[in-house]
Amino acid sequence: MSIDYKIAPSILSADFANLGQEVSNVLEDGADWIHFDVMDNHYVPNLTIGPDICKAIRSYAKKDGKDAIIDVHLMVKPVDELALMFTKSGADIVTFHPEASNHVDRTLSLIREGGCQSGLVLNPSTPIGILDHVLDKIDMVLLMSVNPGFGGQSFIPETLNKAKLVRAKLDEYEAKTSRRIRLEVDGGIKVENIKEAANAGIDTFVSGSGVFGKKDDSRYKNILDEFRKALK
Ligand code: DX5
Ligand code: ZN
Repeated sequence: MSIDYKIAPSILSADFANLGQEVSNVLEDGADWIHFDVMDNHYVPNLTIGPDICKAIRSYAKKDGKDAIIDVHLMVKPVDELALMFTKSGADIVTFHPEASNHVDRTLSLIREGGCQSGLVLNPSTPIGILDHVLDKIDMVLLMSVNPGFGGQSFIPETLNKAKLVRAKLDEYEAKTSRRIRLEVDGGIKVENIKEAANAGIDTFVSGSGVFGKKDDSRYKNILDEFRKALK
């Protein structure tokens, strides 16, 4: 079976003064999705971008003439109100950290009712059992391979063991339901370690500094080609 890998550059490392152009360039140069990091200086010690910016980049996020997926990663507490705002601001997928929501099952439902795909984000130390009773309400699991809050940190190798365990859980679920749940990784992903992550069962790769920090004469084409080659 060939796996439908997706590469989702995190615009946290893009040039914020030219965000629309950066979004359309990186997609034109070979990225699949746009990863959109929302930080609130409360759940994480940093402050980034909100729903209005998501709305503003929506028309730039195109792939082959069609809307590309905007993958919104909420690092905020509380979650529900902002999650709802993003469902109305052009997001396609909204993920959040379960410890930031008082009622995880309810938040997942709110996101789906808002017309988006939903997902849970597990920090490096969050146990995977939190997934057990909500798999029906999840379209993607995001494994943090750094502690959330900043781009440019180093990949935590234990993530690979965790990915294998989550992959087994998701495969078991798929065998029962015929529904595939994506497994995404976020933090410290580079050309050098993407294959290892894929071998551990990851199918969706966020990379911020690994893409936007590698701009050259080809813009992002060379680096995205290298990512793609590494996955073969
Ligand atoms: C970290 C963010 C990441 C970050 C990844 O909290 O969720 O998406 O931008 O950046 P790199 O790839 O540079 O680790
Ligand atoms: Zn992220």
